[in-house]
Amino acid sequence: MKNFRIIALAVLTLSATNLQAQKYPSKLLGNEKKIDGIISQMTLEEKIDMLHGKNMFSSAGVPRLGIADIEYADGPFGIREEMEPHSWNSAHLTTDSATFFPTGSALAATWSTHWAYAYGRAMSREARLRGKDMILGPAINIQRIPTGGRTYEYLSEDPLLSGMLAVAYTRGSQDDGTAVCLKHYALNNQEDYRGFVDVHISDRSMHEIYLRPFEMAVGEADAWGVMAAYNKVNGRWCSENEHLLTTILRQQWGFPGMVISDWGGVHSTVDAVTAGMNVEMPGSRYMGQALLDSVKAGKVSEAVIDQRVREILRVRMAVKPIAKEEANRVPVGNKEEMAVALEVARRSIVMLKNEKLLPINSKRVKHIAVIGENAVTKMALGGVGAGVKTRCEITPLEGLKSAIGNSMKISYAPGYKSFDRGSRNRRQSPQQAANPELMSEAVKLAKSADLVIYFAGDNREVETEGSDRKSITLPSGQDELAIALAKANKRLVTVVVAGGPVDISTVNDVSKSLLVSWFNGSMGGQALAEVLTGKISPSGKLPMTWPIHLEDVPAYATGSYPQNIQNNAQGDIFVDITQNRSNERRQQLVANYSEESLVGYRWYDQKQASVAYPFGFGLSYASFRYDQLEVQPTAEGFDVHFQLRNVSSADAEEVAQVYVSRPSSRIERPVKELKGFQRVALKAGESKTVTIPVRRSDLCH
Ligand code: BGC
Repeated sequence: MKNFRIIALAVLTLSATNLQAQKYPSKLLGNEKKIDGIISQMTLEEKIDMLHGKNMFSSAGVPRLGIADIEYADGPFGIREEMEPHSWNSAHLTTDSATFFPTGSALAATWSTHWAYAYGRAMSREARLRGKDMILGPAINIQRIPTGGRTYEYLSEDPLLSGMLAVAYTRGSQDDGTAVCLKHYALNNQEDYRGFVDVHISDRSMHEIYLRPFEMAVGEADAWGVMAAYNKVNGRWCSENEHLLTTILRQQWGFPGMVISDWGGVHSTVDAVTAGMNVEMPGSRYMGQALLDSVKAGKVSEAVIDQRVREILRVRMAVKPIAKEEANRVPVGNKEEMAVALEVARRSIVMLKNEKLLPINSKRVKHIAVIGENAVTKMALGGVGAGVKTRCEITPLEGLKSAIGNSMKISYAPGYKSFDRGSRNRRQSPQQAANPELMSEAVKLAKSADLVIYFAGDNREVETEGSDRKSITLPSGQDELAIALAKANKRLVTVVVAGGPVDISTVNDVSKSLLVSWFNGSMGGQALAEVLTGKISPSGKLPMTWPIHLEDVPAYATGSYPQNIQNNAQGDIFVDITQNRSNERRQQLVANYSEESLVGYRWYDQKQASVAYPFGFGLSYASFRYDQLEVQPTAEGFDVHFQLRNVSSADAEEVAQVYVSRPSSRIERPVKELKGFQRVALKAGESKTVTIPVRRSDLCH
């Protein structure tokens, strides 16, 4: 089945006015009088106390006035376990579990605002049980490079897809009572050198591409929190970047809420607080005693401090505090939230290729060989950064076994040894050679089976916060193994488990069917089994382009990534930023975003470059027909109407996508841009009229 797209040509005249983010009345602004009263009773010391971390994941309130601390919940895809107050060591509680939700790229592959809303809501319910006021998420930086260590956490290479999902996630979470914290504001598009790199970027691409998801979540969903990123933008650290924190965020977008720093990301006292930083996290190096001294010395006015305190109090008053003894009373990760994780996972799985092996034909297949450690690897934890201590994570092998029961034999062989950062020889990279013994065991098993399902891909050690992947080649000799498996048995299905693009040229060639199942959360294994067995039809679509070669990726092609510093090891940049801040050469590191707005598919379209699989691509067991396309102007922009029919015998969901081109534009524009989408459920044979609105504000440059 071909993946259909609709290209609507925008022929409307757009006025230059009315193009700013729509400003919805913020819920935060209803308590100003009360806040005046509170501030007037506070001492300067109490005010300063609110402007920095108290513990690793909390900042202080004013106990004397009944103002509770703010408790932060780390992780955009599940509430992180509790830490000791002043270290990254686990607090070893038994009640700090949570649901592991599919990570950002998986959520984005659903292209579902409905399920993004449910996701935010479910995250909030767990945050509340865990005593948290603000979720450190969603993480919505644009995926500029596929190798970015946090591609799996981020949503998409496209600003509209990222923005619409961020809006839904934010509304879901805040409707349920927990503030979000949009991160990482802004331009944190790489993990290598994230603590130093200075992003040089034009206003146009900054606003059209990189800031747009933040602007949407602030303007349309009233996001209450924002986290300033580690890097610099146009010469200034994000944490003291007045242009970003005041001019754009507060003045242009009307953000009334609070900005917290990324952990250890503040570099100054006076500059940070006057630029708009509310809370230095997690310590008080710059915004504790040093800030108090600065106020006393007249370098910062108390009016600025009052304003920063006011912005925090607005959020504090919008979120109901939870008494400490009420938090973490029961283990979290309950049926309702697991159900949301399952629904998201079901819709996220992308089928890239299918030459008749799927769904598994139970009449023909009596013995399945499941190969590859990723069939049994749990992805809730691993690498640097937030993970989830979950009570349940169904692996692909477990999912298959329980879906298939006794009707077929399932045998497993690991096939390769997964990359493990913990036990690695520092010089070893994920691209190790195949393991001959494991390979021959797997090949033997493949020969004996009617169907081989091969689990390739990355794990949470390969894709991790703090460092970027150096290559997109499949790790652990997986290509070599794929070739050997295909020689042994032509009936080969490959499932790629990864948070971002990998080089699939080999597995694509040798496999009859190919799927991407992401880091797919607590219920990911069940969702995948449902797709493989045909209980549901796959309906995920790629939220980012899968390139053929890394050199084709715009940032690589233009030479602005990777940046080079000779003495950089593959070490953890987080350690570097805290211990080696004075390294002059690092401070001069520049990422010149010279591809401008041509990020992701916008670039490949323009250069007419081939890709492995394009943005928006994903197959189904069903087939759909698009008919009767009409475009009608509306007050907001225009509506795209069409008939969508499921012309097959399988119930399925489809994601209709509207791309817009502007031929003969006076200014340079991408060949086409996503400007609307909708997920539609259709029973076999069913037809629906679909209307997708395209907004004027999304068409401006
Ligand atoms: C990450 C943030 C995270 C924070 C607290 C930082 O290293 O960049 O995303 O919320 O740590 O764990």
